[in-house]
Amino acid sequence: MRLLVCGGAGFIGSTFVRLRLREHGDQVTVLDKLTYAGRRENLHDVLSELRFIEGAIEDPDAVADALAGCEAIVNFAAETHVDRSIAEPVTFTITNMQGTHTLLEAARDRGLRYVQVSTDEVYGSIAQGSFTESSPLQPSSPYSATKSGADLLVSSYFHTYGLEAMICRGSNNYGPYQHPEKLIPLMILNALAGDRLPVYGDGLNVRNWLFAEDFGGGVGHVLAHGVPGEAYNCGGPDECDNLAVVRRIVELTGAEESLIEYVPDRPGHDRRYSLSSEKLRALGWEPRTRFDQGLARTVEWYRKNAWWWEPVRSGAYREYYERHYGRALKG
Ligand code: NAD
Ligand code: TYD
Repeated sequence: MRLLVCGGAGFIGSTFVRLRLREHGDQVTVLDKLTYAGRRENLHDVLSELRFIEGAIEDPDAVADALAGCEAIVNFAAETHVDRSIAEPVTFTITNMQGTHTLLEAARDRGLRYVQVSTDEVYGSIAQGSFTESSPLQPSSPYSATKSGADLLVSSYFHTYGLEAMICRGSNNYGPYQHPEKLIPLMILNALAGDRLPVYGDGLNVRNWLFAEDFGGGVGHVLAHGVPGEAYNCGGPDECDNLAVVRRIVELTGAEESLIEYVPDRPGHDRRYSLSSEKLRALGWEPRTRFDQGLARTVEWYRKNAWWWEPVRSGAYREYYERHYGRALKG
């Protein structure tokens, strides 16, 4: 296929691009604004095999330029960090909602197939059982609210204009190339450096962990086999509370457990996410990587790829880290 992958220089987008080039032989154009989270280094081994356009999804000219010759759009581009959405929410509305709207207009004009990459966070928190695609959208954070708004726009373009649009909602991803602001890489890199490990609240919030390559496969499945107008959940095989995740990282890195430090909870912190993925499994998808195996691979990757994370950890991220954790962490 000739694909436009928006946000292809981010964590999951770059994983998806690699999969499409290596396993499907697609022609790929990446459109990415290269925010703090997007880096050409995420595509270092495949950059010469794709067309790269630096630009924003909310810019119709950049989108038109990027779309030349493409048959379908897969949209990973987003502001993605819940904590940043609490501190600075408006950027989230612009990228996640206005950006998605701009892409939908471009897809409508050209009659293109469209996949919106979304999240389990649109459903809010669930104490027991798992969300299905017909569960109501009850987002808690500005991040998940803007992702929900985008999902509703996508559905409206199917109902109103007959756009061939699908939504794929993933659970928490982890794996190589994830920005160190997120739980797993933050804990791995802090543990390797002997820095403190800041656990929010009581550490018993539960997430449904999905290896990014498996999510890339799920999004590809929806692109190939999804029915227009439908949403598909794509959940990981294992659930785990945060404290158990951090303790496992402590074991895998050989760090001291005493580095774990409880810090004040995130406002509006969802207690548990859990997805039922039966609908996507019925299309033939299944996750291949169990959490324990994927986490060990991820720790190994961060150990071996300091060239990738050293510049991130020493740059603007340091200021963010000080601002966000400085007062909460003792000492
Ligand atoms: P990320 O933050 O690593 O990457 C986002 C990418 O989007 C970056 O390359 C960034 O430069 C780009 N981008 C941001 N604003 C842009 C704009 N206005 N125009 C063009 N490009 C822009 O995010 P990720 O973790 O790879 O997530 C990718 C997608 O998957 C997002 O839509 C996210 O909501 C969804 N998702 C993420 C997870 C997760 O656990 N990380 C889980 C489920 C769904
Ligand atoms: P995160 O990686 O930010 O993903 P999300 O909020 O989208 O689920 O956080 C995963 C979980 O880890 C969440 O319950 C918040 C928690 N967390 C911490 O306890 N400490 C941290 O420093 C971070 C970044 C997250």
